[in-house]
Amino acid sequence: MSGSVIPTPLTGIESSRESAAANSELRRSSLAPFLLWLYRVLNCQRRWRVARVLIALAMRLEGGAMRSATARTFLANYHGVTIGAYSYGECFDPALVPPGVSIGRYVSMARGVRLFTQNHPLDRLSTHPFFYETTPGVATSGDLPPGSLVIGHDVWMGCNVIVTPGCHRIGHGAVIGAGAVVTRDVPDFAIVVGAPARKVRDRFPPEVAARLATSNWWHLSQSEVLARRSELDQLLSPAKTPNHGTPEETHHAR
Ligand SMILES: CC(C)(COP(=O)(O)OP(=O)(O)OC[C@H]1O[C@@H](n2cnc3c(N)ncnc32)[C@H](O)[C@@H]1OP(=O)(O)O)[C@@H](O)C(=O)NCCC(=O)NCCS
Repeated sequence: MSGSVIPTPLTGIESSRESAAANSELRRSSLAPFLLWLYRVLNCQRRWRVARVLIALAMRLEGGAMRSATARTFLANYHGVTIGAYSYGECFDPALVPPGVSIGRYVSMARGVRLFTQNHPLDRLSTHPFFYETTPGVATSGDLPPGSLVIGHDVWMGCNVIVTPGCHRIGHGAVIGAGAVVTRDVPDFAIVVGAPARKVRDRFPPEVAARLATSNWWHLSQSEVLARRSELDQLLSPAKTPNHGTPEETHHAR
């Protein structure tokens, strides 16, 4: 058998997340301009119940959460939340996801996930909003620092996960167990559980994780994944060379 080498990163993979919105992997209905106008005039930035209805409608017209370009535009333009292609779940509810959250591609977010990027200020007279909001409140300016949270590609977040402001990055391929309270950053491909969340193990041995991370496979569209299935499978278990080692192992053994 020949010792085929997987090119790393995989060749021909589009590396720009933004390009997803422009190409065919996301769908945009012909009614999108009307929906965007409606979203604006109905002040959906603040009226979450109406926002939910329009987001659900956009998804219905555009092949569901995984593919709706207009739902992503609503979230990005009016709520400061970016969501990559094929991701789905609670992240499409603007009442549940604060501004400053960026979600990668192929992310699965189960019911009950709650993301928090800011605490109420802990060092003032009171933690009550009256003491840090301008209207009605005593603060003279909206002075809470903006929060941020980056959720990588191919992350799976189980039911009822809570992410607190102490976490700023959940790595690519990470798995967050049901009910976990994530207070710190999560490394790529780690499986974390519990409150506070702790790593129970990695999904893959380090060499496989490194291959997956550098492959950038998540920038492929679903149809490209289907077309390159066998090549992608080899990222998990590369083809052996004739002397029963991977090409890399054979090179190092010399
Ligand atoms: C995290 C998870 C993926 C791990 O699955 P797994 O690898 O099969 O894990 P195991 O069942 O072998 O458990 C491994 C250890 O972690 C513990 N554990 C697993 N999930 C846990 C959780 N959610 N919270 C706390 N501990 C958990 C187990 O008790 C076990 O501990 P032990 O070794 O001391 O006995 C899975 O348990 C989970 O939480 N899945 C999410 C399900 C979900 O929410 N689905 C939503 C619909 S998409």
